[in-house]
Amino acid sequence: MADAAGTPVHVYSRAVLRTRVRALDAAFASYPHDLHYAIKANATLAVVREMRAEGAHADANSGGEIDVALRAGYAPDQIVFTGVGKTHDELVRAVTLGLKAINAESPGEMERIDAIARAHGTRARVAVRVNPDVDAGSHPHISTGLRGNKFGMTPAQAHQMVTSMAARAHLHVVGLHVHVGSQITSAEPLRRGAEAIAGLATALAAEGISLEHLDVGGGLGIAYEPGQIVLTEAEYAAAVLPVVRPTGLRLVLEPGRWIAAPAGVLLTRVVDLKAQADGRWFVIVDAGMTELLRPALYGAWHGIEAVSPRAGAPIACDVVGPVCETSDTLGKARHLPPVDVGDLLAVRDTGAYGAIMASNYNRRPMAAEVLVDGAAWRVVRRRQTIDDMLQWDE
Ligand code: LLP
Repeated sequence: MADAAGTPVHVYSRAVLRTRVRALDAAFASYPHDLHYAIKANATLAVVREMRAEGAHADANSGGEIDVALRAGYAPDQIVFTGVGKTHDELVRAVTLGLKAINAESPGEMERIDAIARAHGTRARVAVRVNPDVDAGSHPHISTGLRGNKFGMTPAQAHQMVTSMAARAHLHVVGLHVHVGSQITSAEPLRRGAEAIAGLATALAAEGISLEHLDVGGGLGIAYEPGQIVLTEAEYAAAVLPVVRPTGLRLVLEPGRWIAAPAGVLLTRVVDLKAQADGRWFVIVDAGMTELLRPALYGAWHGIEAVSPRAGAPIACDVVGPVCETSDTLGKARHLPPVDVGDLLAVRDTGAYGAIMASNYNRRPMAAEVLVDGAAWRVVRRRQTIDDMLQWDE
């Protein structure tokens, strides 16, 4: 496959994608809920279509992701739309499409949604994003629920907004939204996030304001490193459901990474080997921060394995890419079986926030993406050509 498709190539397993979304859905089976797959994790159409085929709905974070959802076959009322800087055009699109919920991030945005809905003679469905001031305990770049983060409104502000917007003819406040961060590996932040909106919903109900749903966002982490302690999907449900259940409101979840990350590997070929002064090796491969930004951006750890391990004593090495930055390191201080130029390596758990965060830095064409289905496979996103890359240049 790597011979035919070329490297670097992102490879996804249809079976793993489907098994994961089903498992998460099953964990919440005892309570009315909708899984809205977070398209940002992997927006390749073939992947989003698999999610839809499994009955998941969609969470979009931009106008572009709304288009991905629509092209994957979703109806507008299956899409929730989040985003801290929605433009006027994006809001007009969201309002006129009639999305299931626009997750509003600020009082100003709620006013703008109201004005757009009025101008278009419609009623916009809005959920209010609450910033619960909860520490997700993950990397600071992907923690979103602290008071100092740019996301959402304080619970007090959200309360005041919902009450003051309740009587507006063109605004229908249908829910509350929270998302405290990503790659969360313990129950407490997820529980506290849910608690913040469940508590607010209860207070609003006492004032006669009833909602349709509580959207607890995404964030469930996976074990990138062997032995890393994470929450199971059952533990996640056990953290969230007891908090949400007393409200009686439908639960919305926006999982991305947990479903998609373990379904993907990045296949890359060794292009050079170079001895380091301390006796270790640089294993230089044809993928780098342009195909997988996570190690460079967050210091993230991804497993790296030889696809056909050679016999012999393991070598100590840094696995590095071809890009002109020292941050272009896929794996630092690793041990691999002896490798040679031309060997294939697999970088693990790259199905989420892998291909979608790719760039053309160093004018590197974006990698192909392949979906494996049992013994069969097909290219679901072809490799960019130099002409593709340069087509917008004058
Ligand atoms: N909902 C909202 C509003 C979000 O902002 C996110 C992720 C999700 C759902 C999905 O979260 P998940 O279940 O995937 O954790 N690029 C980073 C991750 C950024 C996550 C941004 N928001 C990474 O590679 O780790």
